[in-house]
Amino acid sequence: MSSPVISPVAGRIGAEVSGVRLGGDLPAETVQEIRAALLRHKVIFFRGQEHLDERGQVAFAGLLGDLTTAHPTVPALNGNSSILDLDYSNGHKVDRWHTDVTFVDRPPLASVLRAVTVPPAGGDTLWANTVTAYENLPQELTRLVEGLRAVHTNQFDYARIATSDDPERTRKYAEVFTSTVFETEHPVVRVHPETGERSILLGDFAKRVVGLPADISATLIRLVQEQVTQVENTVRWRWSPGDVAIWDNRATQHRVVHDFGDQPRRLHRVTVTGDVPVGVDG
Ligand code: SIN
Repeated sequence: MSSPVISPVAGRIGAEVSGVRLGGDLPAETVQEIRAALLRHKVIFFRGQEHLDERGQVAFAGLLGDLTTAHPTVPALNGNSSILDLDYSNGHKVDRWHTDVTFVDRPPLASVLRAVTVPPAGGDTLWANTVTAYENLPQELTRLVEGLRAVHTNQFDYARIATSDDPERTRKYAEVFTSTVFETEHPVVRVHPETGERSILLGDFAKRVVGLPADISATLIRLVQEQVTQVENTVRWRWSPGDVAIWDNRATQHRVVHDFGDQPRRLHRVTVTGDVPVGVDG
């Protein structure tokens, strides 16, 4: 089999990989090349994977590591405990910058997202490189954040978003997403277990910085998040059905662009088990 062709999509993050038909039967060498591309580019895109169904997606993702159950609080897709059904017609509306599931001790290593139905226009997804975000912080800010820890919780993010929806949707939404409250602490700067790169670990589940007064904590999180999400630090993907995106959840944040009104948009996400984030002091 010939090697995959890897073409960067933006300057700091993101590459399209062609010449690969994803599935559970990929040779170890190809999986290795995919893993290397993921570590280097943080998010990689595969077009034209319409052959991939739910089982195929799970089988492929399983080549990258052990899979997590779909989500700590959201019910999995019928009969498949690993698939999170992101069906936006059900009121799903997490349109804020986040790293997946950081409110648990071991957030996923990677996420594999497959487009099932996409709107004719809009509904793109953005990713930000949290390593280059760290590297581009002013030195004084770097020194400040390196020693800090932040509290992450599912209650904070989902509860806040839900209040903008209609009351019935809000109730159902809160019921699903915050049925069990999770809360944990992570370093604000984490060291990548494979590349050794330092990155910012915040995003919308980060509720407050440990040891700081609430107002200073909120200001600091907003300031650092502004660095993470600067346009130069991001890539934007226009989906077609059958596209697959894989991101390194230890080095990125992402968000959907919710500009598609009531048009159907549905994607299936599978996540690979990660480890406990480690800060610069170990
Ligand atoms: C996600 O937040 O994991 C999904 C992003 C998307 O729907 O584009």
